[in-house]
Amino acid sequence: MSDQAMAPGRVFLVGAGPGDPGLLTQRALELMHHCDVICYDLLVSDAILAQIPQGKTLIPVGYRGYCGTSIEYGMHPDVVAQALAGHEVLRLKAGDPFIFGRGTEECLCLQYHGIDYQVIPGISASLGAAAYTGFPLTSNGMASDVTFASGHKASTTISNWAALGQGSGTLVLYMGAKKIALHAQELISQGKPADTPLAVIAAATSTRHRVMHSTLAKAGQEIAEFDNGDPMLVVIGDVVTLADKLDWRSKLPLSGVQILACTEHRQLIEPLKLAGAIVIEPVTRHVTLDIEDGLWQQLMSQFALHLMDRTSAEALLAACRHRRLDLRDLPWALTAEGDGVTLLAEQGVFVESAAQEGAMVIQQHTKGVAINYDYDPVNSAIKPASRVLVDDCHSLIFLISNQLLATKAVVMSQCTEVLELAQELGFVAESMANHDECAEKGLQSVA
Ligand SMILES: C[S@@+](CC[C@H](N)C(=O)[O-])C[C@H]1O[C@@H](n2cnc3c(N)ncnc32)[C@H](O)[C@@H]1O
Repeated sequence: MSDQAMAPGRVFLVGAGPGDPGLLTQRALELMHHCDVICYDLLVSDAILAQIPQGKTLIPVGYRGYCGTSIEYGMHPDVVAQALAGHEVLRLKAGDPFIFGRGTEECLCLQYHGIDYQVIPGISASLGAAAYTGFPLTSNGMASDVTFASGHKASTTISNWAALGQGSGTLVLYMGAKKIALHAQELISQGKPADTPLAVIAAATSTRHRVMHSTLAKAGQEIAEFDNGDPMLVVIGDVVTLADKLDWRSKLPLSGVQILACTEHRQLIEPLKLAGAIVIEPVTRHVTLDIEDGLWQQLMSQFALHLMDRTSAEALLAACRHRRLDLRDLPWALTAEGDGVTLLAEQGVFVESAAQEGAMVIQQHTKGVAINYDYDPVNSAIKPASRVLVDDCHSLIFLISNQLLATKAVVMSQCTEVLELAQELGFVAESMANHDECAEKGLQSVA
């Protein structure tokens, strides 16, 4: 055994943005693949955690509402320990790591331990909250500056209340909603008009995004009813009134809807996103396909095969690979339909779509086409979903048997068999047969 001490790994301080996985940066996604250990804040949304590939060690670190309280450590000890043990550690933080994220303490602590680090910015909560509520933080003639302040400790953390009270810029309070009555009082006493408009935004950019519009004078009484435990941000200033005109998001038919998309058909996803849905695409799903021996014997006696879908085309290619057979040496006239044609073309096999007379037809439900999922729901961050988009009956049964569907879930599919099965099993079924139109209308149940 070597006496040499193990070289430390590295820590990546990465901003995960406010909640919508669509707001993750390209680099954050790359690092989710690169790192073997992922330490995340409790404010990081499930939809974001669901992007983490299978096989990573997930460690929850930090706790809600910690900012500003005295914490005994610089960087969480689990992060330090994992890096010292030689791991590449992704420290995934809500919003941006350098906005009220204890960035200084964490970096200095890593330096102290001799651990290299890199910092990747994320979209801070205030930027997400403003864009998804429909008001800018600065606007010509209304606000030409914006201040980010911590409202965690009643009135003591803001260095110059007088300037804030008299200025006409926008003031954003992080961690300040619960103490808004005190902050409002301070601002009013320094000269800010009591009827200054403000907005409190909860769970910004997630499916639970909610907004309370109020004024400095009234917010203190109204906040208790609005507060449901989600993180909240306060934006004070005239700009918040622009949401009356500029709110684009709440008008979308699928705004506030989260959909777990277990689909190979990426063209189904974009219309859902355009209609305002947050779509979780689990990267942890791998499907391996094969054709069982009995069916293979039968196939070998055929002169023509017609592949009805992508799954059967995948199965045929997997079976050939497994048996080390070259497709060119096989006896069939091969034809395929839809996605089956595309998949074969991706592999350099170009076929006609009209079946030969007498061809044996193979589709994903043909007895003998085996689909095996390699998926670890325990290691997955996905909670039982209330809406899923699913391609085939196998996937539906897999989701049900792994308790990844909520009891009253809505099952969306473009496959009639899936919809019938979902209905038989007591789920609500929604046809995606014409997906653009469905998304536009906000999806209509066929159950
Ligand atoms: C410790 S600070 C972290 C800020 C984070 N680094 C950022 O850039 O957004 C936590 C505070 O950020 C705000 N916050 C974070 N995520 C939020 C969200 N999705 N919606 C509303 N406020 C949020 C809340 O004020 C919360 O108390």
